[in-house]
Amino acid sequence: MTRKGIILAGGSGTRLYPVTIGVSKQILPIYDKPMIYYPISVLMLAGIREIAVVTTPQDAEQFRRALGDGSRWGLSLSYLVQPRPEGLAQAYTIAEGFLDGAPSAMILGDNIFFGHGLPDILRAADRRAAGGTIFGYRVADPERYGVIDYDTAGAVRAIVEKPARAPSPFAVTGLYFLDATAPERARAVRPSARGELEIVSLLESYLADGALTVETMGRGFAWLDTGTHGSLLDAGNFVRTLSERQGQQVGCPEEIAFLNGWITEDDLAAQARDHAKSDYGTYLMGLIERAASD
Ligand code: G1P
Repeated sequence: MTRKGIILAGGSGTRLYPVTIGVSKQILPIYDKPMIYYPISVLMLAGIREIAVVTTPQDAEQFRRALGDGSRWGLSLSYLVQPRPEGLAQAYTIAEGFLDGAPSAMILGDNIFFGHGLPDILRAADRRAAGGTIFGYRVADPERYGVIDYDTAGAVRAIVEKPARAPSPFAVTGLYFLDATAPERARAVRPSARGELEIVSLLESYLADGALTVETMGRGFAWLDTGTHGSLLDAGNFVRTLSERQGQQVGCPEEIAFLNGWITEDDLAAQARDHAKSDYGTYLMGLIERAASD
């Protein structure tokens, strides 16, 4: 069955107050586009076209307005509500009907990935039909994340959520390729000491069955955090630096849809005209010229 996507854009965003009082965190700009464009782009690069956005009840409307039904990007977007932020694993039980027995790729709506070869590792994870695939990434402050615990032979022995002392510098990124058993496994997850249905508990269930592949995303990749005011600004500056230097966008759904053959040149031109007053629109128009000269 074709893999479906889930973008988790719930959460109250209190760590970014006061900027997130009136607007959802995942709608905030990362330089020139809403944050959620970046995780959508990652799923699109994995070849996924059917995607559910999981939001809080009060924010659902903002996302509908920002993204619509996805057809302009050749996608089918639907919206699901997480009534209370009770943990990441809950997204799978909320999305159970949407998934309808399909494997999934879930990405956290505030995670930004960039790197040469990203489509290849995404497609490889997609092709692994059974079990789960997650990505470890070396960070300077692993205690802030789920952390991978390796044994002396280098095999993964556990995954621990925000440990006081990290067993390794490898954080688990917010991108999870799981097979069709995820909702059933998620239903068996019990709340942790902090009262959440932890994603690491779900991953541990796969690990216990010998069904978890842990890939390392090497230093050539950027996995950026947007959890604090400073890191949000840093992520925006990173995107600006790269895109201005290269003249190529990072996380541009229109471009990926066009290159994947999911929308036509006419579709792209129409969207470029809609954005005509911004540099983003100029870029989209340029894509058509670039395609003609290639
Ligand atoms: C969540 C997960 C954690 C993961 C992180 C990635 O943490 O619980 O395992 O490493 O996302 O962004 P949160 O950001 O919700 O604290």
